[in-house]
Amino acid sequence: MLVAGNWKMNGSQAMVRALLPSLAGEIAGIGVDVVVCPPFPYLSLAVECLAGSVLGVGAQDMHPAPCGAHTGEVSAQMLLDVGCNWVILGHSERRAGNGEDDLAVARKTRTALAAGLSPIVCVGETLEQREAGRTFDVVAAQLSAVLEGAGPERAASLVLAYEPVWAIGTGLTASPEQAQEVHSRLRQQAEAFAPDAGRSLRVLYGGSVKAANAAALFAMPDIDGGLIGGASLDAGEFAAICRAAEGRSWNS
Ligand code: 13P
Repeated sequence: MLVAGNWKMNGSQAMVRALLPSLAGEIAGIGVDVVVCPPFPYLSLAVECLAGSVLGVGAQDMHPAPCGAHTGEVSAQMLLDVGCNWVILGHSERRAGNGEDDLAVARKTRTALAAGLSPIVCVGETLEQREAGRTFDVVAAQLSAVLEGAGPERAASLVLAYEPVWAIGTGLTASPEQAQEVHSRLRQQAEAFAPDAGRSLRVLYGGSVKAANAAALFAMPDIDGGLIGGASLDAGEFAAICRAAEGRSWNS
């Protein structure tokens, strides 16, 4: 199981210094992979605050090019240079607010994997798409681009996050059954692309996960952890979500 916290555009140096050591203490020895993804300016500090712990640090985006004239952007190499091993890609807030399309997400995925970063790639439908019965088509098209970007030889190293857009920050959560249905389709699609990928792919659920609903979601056979937004800004709540993931091996 893997639980990742996406801080989005929240936090401060003071918060990194207060929250991360306390989180590391609360979940010391836990049998779950845990990653925190604060904004770019705090990545180095997060790595420093987590030195000696098993928690990973991730970024929330990166540029697909290695370096060059891309004002305001950050490369995979820079993330590795400051001690980051993870990166969230294709979040719906970036797809909607920054014009990221499937091709851009695929290019970033390819670069991240080639550089040795572990990408957590987000897919998910809007409420309008769900109500029109298009959920599976939408996520299948998004995943297809990601798989092409990764290529069959690297697809097994992907982590996917199914984040229904209507469940993000709304307090509405997909039911465990709704999420399971999509997760199992995503896994089948990955398996058809590369048999290894289907078996080893981790598919996280994201969208209003809290300590109170995490255990029911994590009990589903194809839910391999969570990508947590708001609840990751509270060490106690986030630690409780991580504990809810304990006891279930990610590929069991
Ligand atoms: P919330 O947990 O705040 O709904 O956010 C989910 C999300 O977008 C994580 O990437």
